[in-house]
Amino acid sequence: MSIKDLDNEYIAHTYGRFPVTLIKGKGSVAIADDGTEYIDMATGIAVNTFGFCDDMWISAVAEQLMELQHTSNLYYTGPCARLAQLLCEKTGMSKVFFSNSGAEANECAIKVARKYAADKYGKERNKILTLKNSFHGRTITTLSATGQDVFHNDFLPLTEGFDYVEANNISDLEDKVKSGNIAAIMFELVQGEGGVMPLTPEFVERIFELSAEYDIITIADEVQTGNGRTGELYAYMNYGVTPDIFSTAKGLGGGLPLGATVLSQKVQDVLKAGDHGSTFGGNPVCCAGAISILNRIDDELLAEVKAKSEYIISELSACEGVKAVDGMGLMLGITTERPVDEIVKECMEKGLLVIKAKQKLRLLPALNIEWDALKEAVEIIKTVCKTEV
Ligand SMILES: Cc1ncc(COP(=O)(O)O)c(C=O)c1O
Repeated sequence: MSIKDLDNEYIAHTYGRFPVTLIKGKGSVAIADDGTEYIDMATGIAVNTFGFCDDMWISAVAEQLMELQHTSNLYYTGPCARLAQLLCEKTGMSKVFFSNSGAEANECAIKVARKYAADKYGKERNKILTLKNSFHGRTITTLSATGQDVFHNDFLPLTEGFDYVEANNISDLEDKVKSGNIAAIMFELVQGEGGVMPLTPEFVERIFELSAEYDIITIADEVQTGNGRTGELYAYMNYGVTPDIFSTAKGLGGGLPLGATVLSQKVQDVLKAGDHGSTFGGNPVCCAGAISILNRIDDELLAEVKAKSEYIISELSACEGVKAVDGMGLMLGITTERPVDEIVKECMEKGLLVIKAKQKLRLLPALNIEWDALKEAVEIIKTVCKTEV
C-alpha cells in the first residue's frame, strides 16, 4: 500500500491533505517521495522557524535526547528552567507554564484569567471577550474562544462565558466591556487562520486602555505570530503594548511540540500547586531545541525578516492578478483575482509549497529563508497570479 492509501485507510479523515508525501527536508527545501523538490513557504504552518532539519536545532535536540528524554514535572530539569529564564528575560515577563501545543497554552491563559478575576471580584466575573474571526485552538474551551460559528456548530454545548467582539470595531469593544463581568480580553494581533488580518493600532490601544480601567486581563495569543514571525520577537511588540499573559507554541519548538503560557508579574502567582499541570509540558528535548531557536531570534534576524517582508510586499503588491497584501513580517496573506485553491495547486505544480487562510494565499516562510529561494518563490507566485484563465 502507498503511504497515501495507508493514510486514507487508517488516519481519521479530519484533514484535507495536499496530494504530496514529503520524506525529507533541509532548510527551505522539501523533497517528496517521487523525488520532486519544493521550496517551502508554509513551514508546517509557522512551526519550522529555521526551516527543515536546521543544523543548530538538530544539535541542541540530539544532545539533550542522549542525556534525558523525559522526567515528568515531578523533578527539576535544566532545559525548561533555562528556557523559562530566556523567555522572561527577552520579554520582561515573570513566569512561564509549559505545555505541548497552542490550544493548551491558551487553555492555561484562560484558567489564569478566570482565577485572577474570581479571586479578586468573585466567581460571576468570568466572561472572556475574544474577537470574531479569531482562532484559538480545537479543544472544547479554545474552540469556544474561537470567534467563528463554523467551528462551533457540530460541537455544542460549548464552554460557557465567551463573547465575541468584531475585530477593529472600537464601539463594539466598548459596549461589550461595559456589559460587565469581563475577566479577560483575548486576541491575536494578526488573525492567522482568520485570513492574516492585523488588528489596527487604535483598536489595540483601546483594548489596553479599557483593560487598565476595568482591571481586565489582556491575553495575546502569539501561537502563530510569535517567535520572530512578524518582525518582532512577539507581535505585541509591534504595537508598543505589553499583555498580562501571552501564549506561544508553533515556532517556539521549531518542529517539536511545545506550548508556553507566559505570565506577567500581575498574574504570576494566580495558579497554585495542583491548579494546573501537564505530563509532557516542558519536555527537556523540546525545550533544548527551543532555547537554540530563541537565542537566534536577535535584532539581526528580525531586521532580515523585515527586509524579506518588504521585498515580498513590494513585489506582490505590484503584481498583476494580486488585489492586496496583508499581514506583518513573514506572515502575509495575498488576495488574488484567481481563486486561491487554484493558485495553491499551481504553485505546487511549479515546485512551491504555499497554503491558504480563508480566501487568501498565506506565506509563512522560514525566518532564514535564503534570498535566492525567496526570489524564486516570489517569481512562481507572480507567474501563477498573473496567469489568465
Ligand atoms: C492563533 C492560534 N492559536 C492557537 C492555535 C492552536 O494551536 P495548536 O494547533 O498547536 O493547538 C493556532 C493554530 O493554528 C493558532 O493559529
